[in-house]
Amino acid sequence: MRTRTLGPFTVSAIGLGAMPLSMVRNGQQGWDHANETVHAALDAGVTFIDTADIYAPSWDAMGHNERVVAEALRTYDGDTSGVVVATKGGITRGEGETWGRDGSPEYIRRAVEASLRALDREVIDLYQWHRPDRRRLYGEVVETFAALKDEGKIRAVGISNANVEEIEVAIEVLGEGGLVSVQNEFSPRFRCSRDELEFCGEHGIAFLPWSPLGGTGGQSKEVGRTYPVFDEIGTERGVSPQQVVLAWELALGEHVIPIPGASRPESIVDSALAADLDLTEEELARIEAQFR
Ligand SMILES: NC(=O)c1ccc[n+]([C@@H]2O[C@H](COP(=O)([O-])OP(=O)(O)OC[C@H]3O[C@@H](n4cnc5c(N)ncnc54)[C@H](OP(=O)(O)O)[C@@H]3O)[C@@H](O)[C@H]2O)c1
Repeated sequence: MRTRTLGPFTVSAIGLGAMPLSMVRNGQQGWDHANETVHAALDAGVTFIDTADIYAPSWDAMGHNERVVAEALRTYDGDTSGVVVATKGGITRGEGETWGRDGSPEYIRRAVEASLRALDREVIDLYQWHRPDRRRLYGEVVETFAALKDEGKIRAVGISNANVEEIEVAIEVLGEGGLVSVQNEFSPRFRCSRDELEFCGEHGIAFLPWSPLGGTGGQSKEVGRTYPVFDEIGTERGVSPQQVVLAWELALGEHVIPIPGASRPESIVDSALAADLDLTEEELARIEAQFR
């Protein structure tokens, strides 16, 4: 598969969003086929996996998704030394499913230690601040991430759900080249983070669209019906509308690395093919025209 640069790493242009592997939907457990799904992704050439400490079926199972990813990598019969695993911290889940944010140094440090245990690693490849804690100064929280990198607990720092101003602050704290990635929602139905996407491109920061197909609520399956241009081009090319969506996102810049989620092997195997789908200028213009 084609590759892209993610800070110090070279990763597959399409990553695997592991979140659906910890969800229960329509009474079905996303993790029933977890090893199979991750192994299928690796077989397809995926070398980048995105997880988070909060991806878990319930509040008392934090770290579930990280453990699922670690187990799948452990049981893979191929070489996983080049696989980059990104996780996130900064969102809290408590008894009775109370959700919050905590950017305090104490909390972030505890979260990193818990993720290291769940991932069964000595160092985290890419650690991302999941969501801003608005009670704290943005730069002060990023300083904790910088310290964790200096201490060798994490190899690279990313942020998530950040606006341009926050990205600027993170660059200021981490220094030019110190902020490796920004992970924001971006898909045909959610295009308002385009400013952040472009800003990242200008600063050599990887942009990781989350929910790149529209999310797990069914929108990803319907994307070709909601936005017929993806269906039309998919039919003309003999590929799925989901592949066309991901190829469009890849065409927005060399720094874009979509992380489509999957609970089934078929989904990620299909999505991975988007890395090698080059859309023509005419096709890209048709897609953009639909959004006007
Ligand atoms: N930073 C954040 O705040 C944040 C928030 C949300 C998500 N994320 C990350 O972003 C990742 C992706 O987002 P997401 O999982 O919410 O949404 P998504 O990638 O837009 O959609 C995932 C859904 O799309 C289906 N799918 C994937 N590829 C497909 C294909 N080629 N054809 C048909 N269906 C396909 C999957 O179905 P099956 O389940 O049936 O395989 C899955 O249910 C997550 O896994 C997570 O790692 C980050």
